[in-house]
Amino acid sequence: MKEIKLFAPATIANVSCGFDVLGLCLDNVGDEMIIRKTNDKGVKITKISGQNLPLETEKNVAGVAVLALLEKVTIDYGFEIEISKNIKPGSGIGSSAASSAGAVFGVNKLLGEPFSLQELVPFAMEGERLASGTAHADNVAPALLGSFTLIRSYNPLDIVKIDAPKELYATVVHPQIEVKTSDARSVLKQTVSLQQTVTQLGNLGGLISGLYTEDYELIGRSLHDEIVEPYRSILIPEFENAKKAALEAGALGSGISGSGPSIFALSKGKETAEKVGRAMALVYKNIEIDFDVHVSKVNANGIKVL
Ligand code: HSE
Repeated sequence: MKEIKLFAPATIANVSCGFDVLGLCLDNVGDEMIIRKTNDKGVKITKISGQNLPLETEKNVAGVAVLALLEKVTIDYGFEIEISKNIKPGSGIGSSAASSAGAVFGVNKLLGEPFSLQELVPFAMEGERLASGTAHADNVAPALLGSFTLIRSYNPLDIVKIDAPKELYATVVHPQIEVKTSDARSVLKQTVSLQQTVTQLGNLGGLISGLYTEDYELIGRSLHDEIVEPYRSILIPEFENAKKAALEAGALGSGISGSGPSIFALSKGKETAEKVGRAMALVYKNIEIDFDVHVSKVNANGIKVL
């Protein structure tokens, strides 16, 4: 195989109570990438359409992720990458993760799959380090593996894939402002209280348990975040109103998608998820901020070869 074309999906990180440890993969929102073998060694980004992003390998998240992978193999050829970006950088649905994860996934395929999907995660995390200053895995892991992923441990890296209940749908509203992950991380407190930790642990355990037992009410009760959301929500216009609108329209729960500004909601059933999308959209229509709305099933498979 000399060339591969693939779909690299958007993802929702944190999922309220799982800051840096939980993420889920979306189905119908994502980038397309073409990766080719070349005679020249190394990796070149030859084209990016849709967004204005750096082509220089060392400044591009896909380039940096592939360089990390190439350090672990001995080959006498290289790769070039074309990226068609549909996910805006700074949107909160894993734009950098889609590029990083897609690039290492495609290169691994062209190499004959020397690495498992789990083994690709640390390479893709190097793209996240470049994008946000922190090599978090809660977008790249669900992009690569699909479904929900729990980062049980970063050191050593231990990732658990958790299937989503069949009728679980995500709604994402993206108000068209940019929030850089590095900025959204810098507003966070570095210490949390014992009481906050107890609350967060209860909710994370509840959410995971709800996913395994398909208990939608338990999932809803667990979608709370007392550690991150209070600080980040002030960066997102109308956050409280959009969240309230989602819950009133029947969402199980709602919160900030990744580092924002996108806001997500989880619902039981597509119909409710669409109604939730309309309700959240209305909040932004009323104040004349442009927005996108996505309704998606949880993507069980992650990156897809086209
Ligand atoms: N866990 C990361 C954060 C995700 O919240 O900063 C960024 O998409």
